[in-house]
Amino acid sequence: GAPVGSVPIAAVPTAAETAASKEVTVLFGSQTGNCHGLAKKTSKKLEERGFQVTLSSMNDFKPNSLKKVKNLLILVSTHGEGDAPDNAVSFYEFLHSKRAPELADLRFAVLALGDTSYEFFCQTGKDFDKRLEELGAKRLIPRVDCDVDFGELAADWMNRVTETLGESKSGGASSAAAGLPAQTGTDTESDYSRSNPFRAEVLENLNLNGRGSDRETRHLELSLEGSNLQYEPGDSLGVYPENDPRLVDELIEAVGWNAEETVPSPKASETVTLREALLRHYEITVLTKPLLVKAQELTSSAGIGELLASGRESELRAYIAGRDTLDLVQDYSLKGLSASDFVSMLRKIPPRLYSIASSSKASPDEVHVTVRAVRYESNGRNRYGVCSVHLAERAETGDTLPVFIQHNPNFKLPESPDTPIIMIGPGTGVAPYRAFLAEREETGAEGKTWLFYGDQHFATDFLYQIEWQRLLKDGVLTRMDVAFSRDTDKKVYVQHRMLEKSRELYAWLQEGAVVYVCGDEKKMAHDVHAALATILEQEGNLSPEEAEQYLIRMQQQKRYQRDVY
Ligand code: 2AM
Repeated sequence: GAPVGSVPIAAVPTAAETAASKEVTVLFGSQTGNCHGLAKKTSKKLEERGFQVTLSSMNDFKPNSLKKVKNLLILVSTHGEGDAPDNAVSFYEFLHSKRAPELADLRFAVLALGDTSYEFFCQTGKDFDKRLEELGAKRLIPRVDCDVDFGELAADWMNRVTETLGESKSGGASSAAAGLPAQTGTDTESDYSRSNPFRAEVLENLNLNGRGSDRETRHLELSLEGSNLQYEPGDSLGVYPENDPRLVDELIEAVGWNAEETVPSPKASETVTLREALLRHYEITVLTKPLLVKAQELTSSAGIGELLASGRESELRAYIAGRDTLDLVQDYSLKGLSASDFVSMLRKIPPRLYSIASSSKASPDEVHVTVRAVRYESNGRNRYGVCSVHLAERAETGDTLPVFIQHNPNFKLPESPDTPIIMIGPGTGVAPYRAFLAEREETGAEGKTWLFYGDQHFATDFLYQIEWQRLLKDGVLTRMDVAFSRDTDKKVYVQHRMLEKSRELYAWLQEGAVVYVCGDEKKMAHDVHAALATILEQEGNLSPEEAEQYLIRMQQQKRYQRDVY
């Protein structure tokens, strides 16, 4: 509908009303930093137009002050099975509880980030949108749901929100631009970003695993020289990969297209050859529901139509999982489909994010990442992780890769160099701790540090073993506990080591240690969370509910931070 029209407009706003209408609260819930970045951009735009903006993560926002807010913008992502980001959880729960106030005077807008390859696409944003309406708030503009390539839709949303806020109530909004705060001129931001990546040269590309390992984990060092890109420990590197040339060729052959024919590039008004488009510009390894809908529209395939029939969501999900566009064209013989129509079904190839494994203070002009090659079999074919296998097999020293920095304020060293830190990161989850420790060493920080690390086998999978030993010897790393899961009859995981050391671990918590968890979200991070709760129950004599509350408080105080995927 047209929500703007439904906003009651006071004939002559009082001074207080005018002032209130110039106040906007921007709240974000962000796991990897996208929503945080967009919220900052939105705030800047509004400030330039003379609005008074309060920008905050949902966690940092005092829910009681919600009643006083007149204009609320929500930017929130969804991950996993429809889950809210860590720094949105407590606000989400408050708003969905009985304690939530009536919000009849509130106007709001929601920008939701998500991924159409997941069933619960943008669920958290949808929930906030619905709940705010239930509480009596009025929409400034309809909610916008973005797929992985969120850039343009998010920019549109920002423009429309800014315009709508500018138009309604105080007619003076546009003239407020005259009162624009002077720009500080200390803007040293790099020209390179997600939408304009820097081509970074590969300086090193090593396999960290020993011979005989099931794993292949690459240590990559890239040059950022000349980019002016800045990062801090805890930030991530975005990398735009290329699809596997073998898969591209098979796909072209399967339908009988001509690799050299020109097709539209995702940048409007540009064209590229089909082969180039499928190698570098479009995603061909993931099937989504919108993709199948388009395929059905373009080909009238009865088979795809059946897959999309209503009430059969679980069959659709089962088909999509572990299949790619080559399966689609083969299973539904999309022979008549033109190459241009085919690429019109596809998403822009999204960048992959890797936790940075270096400190720019210790390694100026460089950025390091730790990447595990993803290879598996499904539905009768070998499948390869697009970016990880590109990096493992086809990124040679001297090649360049399109990269950008994704800041992650949710995973940061404590302000004080004396604060103890506990770092939990099995597998490639150890990457950011290499950055943390390099930073602490380089800056001479004296706080205690404790690393919990694990992988399958001691002999072949102990990533960066020599470096940890050196850091231990030099006192930069105070303690290290390792869990090799497949060297013994019974599996040992990092959380088992934590439980064995529960008394000491609890003592560190009492001293104000910050706990970091990085790596697998679904299993590891969940089990580590449970172990932390158990430690609090046992050593602190807390009930399970109290332990859970304690962890929520730690999260709010940024003493429990997670970078999980
Ligand atoms: P596994 O492969 O033997 O099951 C890094 O991948 C390490 O994390 C491996 O040793 C892996 O063990 C382990 N791991 C798997 N599931 C885990 C869980 N739920 N909690 C902690 N570690 C886990």
